[in-house]
Amino acid sequence: MPNNDRLLAAVHDSIRAYCEANHDFGFKANDPVVRLHEPTFSADEIAAAVDVLLSTRVTMGPKVKGFEREYADKFGFTHAVMNNSGSSANLLAVAALVNPATKDHLKSGDEVIVPALSWSTTVWPLVQHNLVPVIVDIDPLTLNADPSEIERAIGPKTRGIMPVHVYGNPCDMGAIMDICKRRNLALVEDCCEALGAFYDGKPVGKFGRVGTFSFYFSHHMTTLEGGICVTDDFEFAEVMRMLRAHGWTRELEDRERYLKAYPHIDPKFLFVNVGYNLRATELQGAFGSVQLPKLDGFVERRRENTAVWRRDLDRWGKFFMFQTETPRGKSSCFGFPMTLKADAPFKVGEFMAFLNAARIETRPIIAGNIAVQPAMKLFQHRVVGDLRHSNRVMEGGVSFGNHQAVDEAARDYVTGNVGDFMRTKGLA
Ligand SMILES: Cc1ncc(COP(=O)(O)O)c(C=O)c1O
Repeated sequence: MPNNDRLLAAVHDSIRAYCEANHDFGFKANDPVVRLHEPTFSADEIAAAVDVLLSTRVTMGPKVKGFEREYADKFGFTHAVMNNSGSSANLLAVAALVNPATKDHLKSGDEVIVPALSWSTTVWPLVQHNLVPVIVDIDPLTLNADPSEIERAIGPKTRGIMPVHVYGNPCDMGAIMDICKRRNLALVEDCCEALGAFYDGKPVGKFGRVGTFSFYFSHHMTTLEGGICVTDDFEFAEVMRMLRAHGWTRELEDRERYLKAYPHIDPKFLFVNVGYNLRATELQGAFGSVQLPKLDGFVERRRENTAVWRRDLDRWGKFFMFQTETPRGKSSCFGFPMTLKADAPFKVGEFMAFLNAARIETRPIIAGNIAVQPAMKLFQHRVVGDLRHSNRVMEGGVSFGNHQAVDEAARDYVTGNVGDFMRTKGLA
């Protein structure tokens, strides 16, 4: 008989030794690089994933279920349905919202309001489910959907709102909830950039009928790829469980009611809805359980970085707009977004090139104004107003890495380089 404990201990020791020798993601003053993201994981997560592989139980099972429970419990969500990406989480949420098994489901041609500053796969699931995206402008300070623009966008076919908590900054949920109640609209919160963010002390994702999160590699915590849908509505969670896996009853919490209703069909192969395969693997579940206890620390570091940069870069406020935390909100600070003002005496491309030459990676803010992305030309949608704030972000938006591996020295390096750029332009 093999001595599994001894063999596993040797595997873990090797993983640990490898990671100690190779996984130093911290900033080094003598070889400075500030990447958009650095891995949040190392030996603990890799060992947990290897354990799963060695067990050979690799597809969705107890590890995924365990992580779902832990995630729900940490934030006070009632139900959590893990899947294989934030995009899949959005797909599942919207698919459930239009599914005939869902009470008060949305119908083909119904409109859903989305902010212009959103990710592609915030909007695509609406299109893919025959809903019509209605695109509204953002508040230039918070970068989130402007509630007065949402109100203005509502028409006779409007049935829902899908706000995005941009860069971890919670939307004005007081105003949005008020609109949803008065206008009887369904709310789907895209929280894919906002793990660990709160509004009024309540976690984002808890306000709507369903909330979605992403555990992509570069996010606050990761399951490599991965996502999760959260809801307090049991039946809605059950529909998402069906749609996640082939329309099958296999993963339902209340399978019994279907097994009783269809005793003549093999209970192991009973299909009660349509579906996709959006299941997460056991590796992802195991990863999540190791990462979750580290999330608060990761978020705190991002908040500290933001506070210091806001203070130190404030002197360039005549050229840039900085994201402002929503009143009553606690942002989880996903990156550090800045938008060049239209009358600034330089182009954002020059600024980015200067930082990139100093090995500070940059990127635009999300996908810019989604309404001007060519894909939108192919599908029915409605644009409200001139989207001027979203256009400004598209033209002048830039962000650099703000994550758990950014420390005081990395912050100073970025701040110093911003100052150097201004000096080359004769502006300092
Ligand atoms: C707002 C928003 N929604 C959805 C997604 C999709 O998440 P994923 O990359 O896990 O598919 C992202 C990606 O980061 C995002 O920023």
